[in-house]
Amino acid sequence: MREIEQLAVRAYKGKFGEEPGLVASAPGRVNLIGEHTDYNGGFILPCAIDRRVAVAVGAGGRGGFETRLYSADFDETRQIDDKDSSWADYPRGVAWAMGEAGHEIGGFEAAFAGDVPLGSGLSSSAAIEAAIALALDAFFGLGIGRTDLAIICQRAENDYVGVGTGIMDQYASLLCKAGAALLIDCRSLDAESVPLDLEAAGLALIVCDTRVERGLAETGYNDRRATCERAAHMLGVEELRDATEGDLDLLSGAELKRARHVISENARVLEAVEALRHRDFDEFGRLMFASHASLRDDYEVSTPELDTFVRAAEQHGARGARLTGAGFGGCAIALVPRAETAAAFTNACRQAFAKREFEEPVFYEFVPAEGAELAG
Ligand code: GLA
Repeated sequence: MREIEQLAVRAYKGKFGEEPGLVASAPGRVNLIGEHTDYNGGFILPCAIDRRVAVAVGAGGRGGFETRLYSADFDETRQIDDKDSSWADYPRGVAWAMGEAGHEIGGFEAAFAGDVPLGSGLSSSAAIEAAIALALDAFFGLGIGRTDLAIICQRAENDYVGVGTGIMDQYASLLCKAGAALLIDCRSLDAESVPLDLEAAGLALIVCDTRVERGLAETGYNDRRATCERAAHMLGVEELRDATEGDLDLLSGAELKRARHVISENARVLEAVEALRHRDFDEFGRLMFASHASLRDDYEVSTPELDTFVRAAEQHGARGARLTGAGFGGCAIALVPRAETAAAFTNACRQAFAKREFEEPVFYEFVPAEGAELAG
């Protein structure tokens, strides 16, 4: 059992006074390329990270009649019923969405422990959702497939928590494989693992948390989404996935810029997958920089901090770098040659932030990890 899973077990025992029935855990994610394409029916290429949320689940001392949720990270116990804008809304939403999908679940008790950085755009909330979804599926013997679990988790996020995100985070957390990225077609929900052996390529995946609160994330995100829907409507296509570069002549203003990003980004994802298959990290990196420029100039979701990191990364030897996730703050990623040593690279980036009097960023190095699992 992983350490974080043991922590969840200890928390369960401490809180509920008995052994849990089972333990599951699910990772956060970074998206390598393919940003703001998921809700346009397009392509994405995320990988899971080696930071997880674990949950221990059992029938509980009260005969399974009452459901209690406990977070070891916040040392808080919550009931299942009341929505209260806390971490507990994610498991509540999953239980609700399972019911909506026609799956019967009884009472249960659950204890959570996690080490996915919170509020940085590394999908800590999707990790909670995926972990509890897998745990409840096994605990109540529901036999729901992984893709349907991802749809249930997305429903929890969209219709219970009330954030209109695409399916990337939940899908990545449930279906990614260790040592690989996952190419996902967000229309058909077909997915394919693409080997990502960074060590063999002599590269490290460095994540920079700019620590800029993603305050505008919700309004900005919904606004981008609405503009894409408008652009698709103007072009007479179901989703921007169906639009081509030639269609862009028919658009202007914000619709033109947003659609240009989505169309070019979808193409970049497919090119990036080809590059990965040929272990061509120069090309892969070039596409990452191009993705960032498109998110900055056409999709307009970057920030001065994210741009500073990407520029500093380029100047200090990164093969590629870009913002990851929704933007408006949060994290950026870079593929950095190991020989440069992560410390020299991150020091150079830190200096670039200090020079502009930005808050000191936090750096992580992640390896592509396994998706959600039941602990043995
Ligand atoms: C957030 C959402 C995802 C996706 C990205 C942008 O992370 O949760 O569904 O839309 O933004 O690519």
